[in-house]
Amino acid sequence: MLQDRIKELKEERNAIILAHNYQIGEVQDIADYKGDSLGLSQKAAKSDADVIVFCGVDFMAESAAILCSDKMVLLPELSAKCPMAAMITAESLRAEKEKYPDAVVVCYVNTTAEVKAESDICCTSSNAIKVVNSLKEDEIIFVPDKNLALYVAAHTDKTIIPWEGYCPSHHFILKGEVLLAKARRPEAEILVHPECRQEVIEIADKAFSTDGMIRYAKRSKAKEFIIGTETGILYRLRRENPDKRFYPASDRAICPSMKVNTLDKIVNALENMEHKITIPEDIRVRAKQALDRMLEVGRGD
Ligand code: 13P
Ligand code: SF4
Repeated sequence: MLQDRIKELKEERNAIILAHNYQIGEVQDIADYKGDSLGLSQKAAKSDADVIVFCGVDFMAESAAILCSDKMVLLPELSAKCPMAAMITAESLRAEKEKYPDAVVVCYVNTTAEVKAESDICCTSSNAIKVVNSLKEDEIIFVPDKNLALYVAAHTDKTIIPWEGYCPSHHFILKGEVLLAKARRPEAEILVHPECRQEVIEIADKAFSTDGMIRYAKRSKAKEFIIGTETGILYRLRRENPDKRFYPASDRAICPSMKVNTLDKIVNALENMEHKITIPEDIRVRAKQALDRMLEVGRGD
């Protein structure tokens, strides 16, 4: 069985497997730790393993490599790239900073290491509001997700300058589909991710990071939930709450990059030690400052 082989290899290599909440079910099942972007970064930063197999997308594995220069970070499938992270470059961010010389840059972790290196502090969907409100400056360039930027702007007195990026899997969850799902399940609570459009967040009961949703679904008295995020999270929600019902806000909310890691690719990663994520040291050191500052702020949901 592939699962047995992975266990064997993990011991041989002193490796841990980290998996994002959107990964396919069998990858989630063999992971040592499952979580959201913040939880995975925290886990990577504290791990004493020699090898981290990162079952997520490029920017997540890069964050682990930035935080843990003494460990080998492997991404089982190199095509696991986040399209939103590709919507901003270090060069275009530098040009934006010139336009707003008094502003500080808050960068969503869904960015390349080069963009993080140009930023003052990172954030995730869990702590974006907390990070922005922790700053003494009043003017914030917020990159690259415009939906998350608008969500933060609604919860702060600071001036937010958004970037025109978005997550295709969340941006195309439409208000009409969510209303239709609610009409079918009137008792259900609507939980959405802050990468959704403003008009979708406005009709939701709550907005959370993926770990925030998992924690909330456990403690809520509701028995039914409409979930406005990538549908991979339904696997974990259903498994951990067998007495509750979870429905996707949109069946189209699928991130193809989150589905490319498979058990045989994890075996390959551990057998051949590929694909190794490396960051040039000058960029790594600057990007780490932005990530460390965020980790000091901690979880916000
Ligand atoms: P979180 O799991 O951090 O909420 O982020 C969702 C996401 O889109 C990651 O790509
Ligand atoms: Fe990027 Fe969206 Fe996929 Fe997350 S769900 S990896 S933000 S494209």
